Order: sequence, then structure tokens, then C-alpha cells
Amino acid sequence: MALVYIDDLLEGMVLAEDLLTPSGRFVLAAGASIKADQLKLLKSWGVVEAHIEDAGLNQEGEQQASAGEEHASRVESFLSERFALNDLEQEPIATLFRHVTRRLSIKCQKGLDLKALPVSGGTDDVSDVPAPLTVNQLLKGAVELVSLPTVYSHIVELLSRSNTSSHHLARVIDKDANLSVRLLRLANSSFYGFSGKVDSVSRAISLLGNNELTHLVLGISVIRQFRNIPSEQIDMESFWRHSIRCGLFARILAEQLGEKDSEKYFTGGLLHDIGRLVMLDRMPLQYACAVNLARHDKLPMYRAEQDCLKTDHSIIGKLLAEKWRLSPTLIRMIGHHHSPRLAHFAKEACLVHIADVFAHACSEEILLIKEVPELYLQAWVETGLSPEMIAPAIQKVDNEFRQIVAIFFDEAGSGDKL
Ligand SMILES: [Fe+2]
Ligand SMILES: [Fe+2]
Repeated sequence: MALVYIDDLLEGMVLAEDLLTPSGRFVLAAGASIKADQLKLLKSWGVVEAHIEDAGLNQEGEQQASAGEEHASRVESFLSERFALNDLEQEPIATLFRHVTRRLSIKCQKGLDLKALPVSGGTDDVSDVPAPLTVNQLLKGAVELVSLPTVYSHIVELLSRSNTSSHHLARVIDKDANLSVRLLRLANSSFYGFSGKVDSVSRAISLLGNNELTHLVLGISVIRQFRNIPSEQIDMESFWRHSIRCGLFARILAEQLGEKDSEKYFTGGLLHDIGRLVMLDRMPLQYACAVNLARHDKLPMYRAEQDCLKTDHSIIGKLLAEKWRLSPTLIRMIGHHHSPRLAHFAKEACLVHIADVFAHACSEEILLIKEVPELYLQAWVETGLSPEMIAPAIQKVDNEFRQIVAIFFDEAGSGDKL
């Protein structure tokens, strides 16, 4: 019998044990032979792995069942370093580590080179570093950087009027071709899974609802506004890939908990590190010192920021979100993703905190420092998440990630740059 990962299951393999979904729903009985059309369904039901009879493994299956085993010890020592800020003995970190190890081992088998992972940020040249700016200086200094995207303000203003219809909203969004294209592509993506083609902005609005729409417009327009900040300290696309992954984890974990309005979690995850961009833009050299300190002393970035810069990106992000008059929920997600305790373990702060840890753990690029931030166990406990939810969440994020990145960053080639 072999435990086979979902991506490695093949038609004709025979189940050695009953197959259940993560929520315990019965799917297939022991002894059943897996059919081709069932493979996709198993994935969409969140099945992560299955016990397969040895006799059901053909040669290719045997190769895949042992997928990554030869890489596992190298991956484990690589990941042990990445998880240095976390206690590997503790659930849910132990489960996260196990799944991330298997996932990365498979990627290594397919050709990923751990020694060649891109590293973003930091510089050796940190001479003549000016004193860090104060919080006030940071937020006052770059008007175009810290002003709220106009189209978002316009929509919020329209929604505050009682007589606004979806046609009013559609007219505002239609004027912004770039925004409408992205909204339509999101509405037609598996992220939402609406049946039938969504071919107009007003149809998208009626399907999404005002809340979802407002959050998406905020996310899209903020990325557009911040995307082209020139920074020697960080690769902007890496920064946004991390943010998108965090948004997807936050949304999917919230859905697993049965949260309504899970869209706000996506936007909260998308914007959680926004304060870092203000710091990088306004004081790049001072920020490089913080990166060097974090690397040298093996500190989480926000601690190194506090030591070097007397503030950190969650505080700056919170002030920015307040300045933009975002909802209290979004403010808590941005302001307390590293300090959920200070938000009295509000569910939204805990979920974005956990999503940030998961996003770092699952990334194949290193953003500023290689260490995955520490997971606060109490934040995990307060949400009611269980370790069995981790593997399906990773799998769903992997399924969605490329498509969402393509929508935000135009990898699909609409020629319409953010
Ligand atoms: Fe952060
Ligand atoms: Fe983050």
C-alpha cells in the first residue's frame, strides 16, 4: 500500500482504503478502481491523498508514488532553515511543514532548483544611511503614493447614496477600461465559479454584489497605483505575488470556516503589507538596514523594522488604511497581521496572520528574508481551524494562484498593463 498525493493519482489505481473528503464525506470505497473522470472531481472536493494498493500501481504510478522521496531530505533541511522562527513540534506547524515538504519535493523532482530560488531585497551598500523618517514624515511625504485611488473613492461615494443603482456603478467602472477588463476576467474565473459567461460590468456587479465589488475595485486599483514604484530593495512583482497568495489563503481559510463575505479576506490579504511599500519608497536605504539586521540576527522583518526604523509596516499600513477610511475589518487585517493579540484575536486579524505565514511557507521565492514568520498558536486556536484543513487550502491556493496572478498582472497578454 502507498499513500499517493492527489496530483500523482492515475486512472486505474485501486484504493486500499475508503476515500473520504477532508470534512469526512465518503467518496469511494476501498477496492474501487479510480476512473479518469473522477480525478478532477476528487481535487475539487478537496481530497489530498489516497491509500493505493501496490497492485494498482503501474510503473509510472510507482515512480510518482515515490515522487520527491529522493529530494525529501534536502528539502527538509532547506525548509527547517526557513521555519527557524517556528516550533516544528507544534501543531499546526508540524502539519504545514509536512505538506510543504512534500509539495516542494515534488517540485524539485520536476526540476525546481532550491539553490537558484530568487531572493528579493537587501543591499550590501548601506553606508551613509540617513536617519529614519518619522511616521508623520512617512505619510505626509508622498501624496500620490498615499492618496486613495480615485475610482475607489468614487464608488464608495456612489454607494453611500441610497439611490445608486448597479447601472450607475457600471458607468463609473466602464470609464476605466483597465479596471473593467480585470473585473470581468475575475468574474469569469474559477475564483468565483459563476455559471455562464459574465460579459458586462453591470452583470458582474449584480452577480458579485456591492460589497464584493467594492473590495475588488480597491484591490485592483491599489495594485495599479503601487505597482510601478521603482524600488531597488524589492521586486514589485514578487511583493504582489506574496500579497495575492496571502489574499487567496485568507479567503479560502475563511470559506473553510463557513465565513460569509469571504471576499473581504482576499482584499485584506492583498493589502496586508501595503505599509512596507510606503517605507521602501520613502526611505529605501534605511529599510535596507532593517533587512540586513533581520538577516544577520534572524529576526522577523517587522521586529527588525521596529529596531532600525522605530515603527513597522503594519503600523504604517494601518495608518494608511485609516487615512483611506477603509472598513474597521480591513484596518484590523492590515494593522494586526503580525500582532493579532493586540486586536483581541479578532477572527479577521488571525486569519490574515495565518494566511501570511502560509503564503511565505508555500512560496518558491524569498521575499527579503528566508524565514517564514512565526505563527501564533493562540491565533490559530481562536479561529477554530484544524490541521486537516491545511492540505486542501494549499491545494486550492495552488489551483487558483496562476490564474489570479495572470488577471492582476496580465500574463494572459491582453496588452493592458496595470
Ligand atoms: Fe507583514
Ligand atoms: Fe506578508
